[in-house]
Amino acid sequence: MDLWHCVYCSASAKETSNTELVTLLEECRTKNAKNGLTGILLYHKRSFFQVLEGDRTAVEALFDKIEVDPRHNRVIKIISEPIAARAFAKWTMGYPNIGFKELAEIPALNDFFMRGRSYLELGEGRAKALLAAFQEGRWRVSLR
Ligand SMILES: Cc1cc2nc3c(=O)[nH]c(=O)nc-3n(C[C@H](O)[C@H](O)[C@H](O)COP(=O)(O)O)c2cc1C
Repeated sequence: MDLWHCVYCSASAKETSNTELVTLLEECRTKNAKNGLTGILLYHKRSFFQVLEGDRTAVEALFDKIEVDPRHNRVIKIISEPIAARAFAKWTMGYPNIGFKELAEIPALNDFFMRGRSYLELGEGRAKALLAAFQEGRWRVSLR
């Protein structure tokens, strides 16, 4: 397997309710389980941040679909590269059970969140810090 991950952010087409997020997560989890994909999805200030990991072909095929999904726009691919191992092998699509307060405690992202920024303004450096917080930091335990 050509193990790969793709990290992107996007602007939700509208304010996404909890019910809509749960429905989206269910859809993701069912399909990802079939396609051998894992990852995490975050939602904050009308923006999404998602990590997709799995076989390169499957990751890229899914990203092509996600990019044109009308539920969001301004999809920005931040990272697309090979990985040695999955960071979220246990999660067909993990979703953190935390709020703004906890996110704002992530080292290197404190100022960013306190200034009211959305994931769209993350950039590669901060995206890596966010990824690391869920990959090996204390925020990992919040993943459901
Ligand atoms: C923010 C966001 C994240 C998504 N994540 C996934 C995902 O992880 N897996 C997935 O299969 N579809 C995901 N989707 C849905 C896809 O865009 C697309 O609707 C779905 O894969 C359609 O699959 P099908 O055409 O093969 O039925 C996501 C959509 C949005 C808006």
